This record gives sequence, structure tokens and C-alpha cells, in this order.
Amino acid sequence: MLAREVETLFRKFPIIMEHAEQLPELASYFTNGELGVPILITRNNDGVVKAFMNVCCHRGARLTSGECGKAKTFACPYHKWTYDLNGNLRGLPHASGFGDIDKKALGLVELPAFERFGLIWARPSAGEGELDPDAWIAPMAEQLASRGLENHVVFRAWSLDRKMNWHLALEGFQESYHFCGAHEHTACAAYLGNQSSWIDKCPHVRHSVPLPSIVDLKDTPQEEWQHRQHFMTPKYIFPLNYVRVMTDYVYIYPIKPRDQTPASRSEKACRLNDDQISRCVDCTGPSYASTEKM
Ligand code: FES
Ligand SMILES: [Fe+2]
Repeated sequence: MLAREVETLFRKFPIIMEHAEQLPELASYFTNGELGVPILITRNNDGVVKAFMNVCCHRGARLTSGECGKAKTFACPYHKWTYDLNGNLRGLPHASGFGDIDKKALGLVELPAFERFGLIWARPSAGEGELDPDAWIAPMAEQLASRGLENHVVFRAWSLDRKMNWHLALEGFQESYHFCGAHEHTACAAYLGNQSSWIDKCPHVRHSVPLPSIVDLKDTPQEEWQHRQHFMTPKYIFPLNYVRVMTDYVYIYPIKPRDQTPASRSEKACRLNDDQISRCVDCTGPSYASTEKM
């Protein structure tokens, strides 16, 4: 069952790899193997984000074991075939020994990747045809764009590994019914228990959980509400991506099965802070309100 889920859910759709801060400059890169697929992501010399299988085209060695950094080329550690930021094979030692080869056909396997809303996304499979990122995100685009995530900075990044069925993690972030059972001393007090609203952004879902302060708004006209101060808003982007907007920061966390064992999952999160948002926590002016398209 998990193998079918991996094949269907975790190979065919875009997954948030990192915040754009992870590729800060031209000729920067990072690697990711959390989905069971070794992926190399680069920002090429034109500033475009590219993703490849982190696998040498010659004998299949792992191309780079670096986690992140700057590089104009990647030399395979085995026989030193060298590739550029666009995945092209640039050179190979003793090339004459290979006869009349077509170097253009021996580049890295490219994966669909794109940068939107300050986030870097990739699909961990090459053989699923074209991917139209804008059409894919369109139902949630207004909500994601309104957060200005490209202006945020990563405050902290971490991974959690838990022996559990990944469905439980996914579902737990879709409801607040459990807050006063499982989070008696934290979320139970911080939010109105078992009060949620959902907006269908098929195939994505926008979920919103009110803070107790929401009751202060009952005599305020709705058009004057400052939404963010009174709600936690997890945005679920199918099949496993979450962008959870808190009152003054944002969590980004894809939830993934770590491996092929049935009861494991990994949640990698990063918390984003935004100077603009921090300054705006107490602001009530129309400019703040105009950014509130939660
Ligand atoms: S496996 Fe990479 S150069 Fe041979
Ligand atoms: Fe929870």
C-alpha cells in the first residue's frame, strides 16, 4: 500500500523543497534525498531554478554529496565526468576512448522544478510529462502570494522523524478537534477549541482556526477585520505540503514517508520570520488590511 502511495502521491506532484533563501545566489545548489530520490537543485547563471537526479549519467554514482553551497560545475567522484548548472555534460576524462559520443544526450536527468511565492518546488520524477506549475497552484495562488514569503527569512529549520503512519500527521494538521485532548496546555488555550473553517481550493485546502480574540470582533464590521491577528491558517497544498500562517511567522512543512516501512514519516519544517509582518502585528492601517487575503 505504501509503495503505491509513494508512486502516486510522492512522485507525481510538486513538493516544497526549501525556502528560496536556500539558493541565495547564482551558481548555488542544495541536495535533497528525503523522498527516497536523490535530487540536486541548482540556481543557474540566469537565476533559474533547476532540479536533476543527483546521479551521474556514466555509471550511476551519486554526483555530489554536498548538502548545499556554491558550484559552477559538479564533478562525479568516480571517473570525474563533469556537469554544469543546467545538467549538461561538459567534460569527461579520456573522451577519445568513448568514440563518437553525443555529449548532449548524456546530461543529468532533469526533474520539473520551479520557484513560486518564495519557495522552491520540485517533482521527484521525470517521466510524468510536462508540469504546469501555475495551473497546479492556481486555486491557492492568491493566498500564497499575499503572504510575501519571498521577503521572509528562515528563522530555524529542523526535521522530525516519527514512527507513525504518515496519514496521522497529515490529518492532524487538518482539524482542531484534537486540540483540547492532545494539546491541553498549549493549543487548547491558544485557540478556540474545535472551531475551524475550511475553504475548498481543490485539490488544495485552506483551513483556518480562530484565536479566542476573535470574539472581540463581534461588533466590528467584517470589512474591518484584521484576519491574521485572529487566526492560524494552515494552507494544505496537495499532496503533502503545508504553509501554516501564524499571527507573526509562518511554518513550512512537507510531510513525507521516510522510507518504505509502513509506519514512518518525516516532517521537515522551517519557521519563517518576516520583518514586515513583525512590524505589522499591531498595525491596524489599511495597508496591512490590504495584504490580508488569507
Ligand atoms: S560514475 Fe560518474 S564519472 Fe563514472
Ligand atoms: Fe496537533
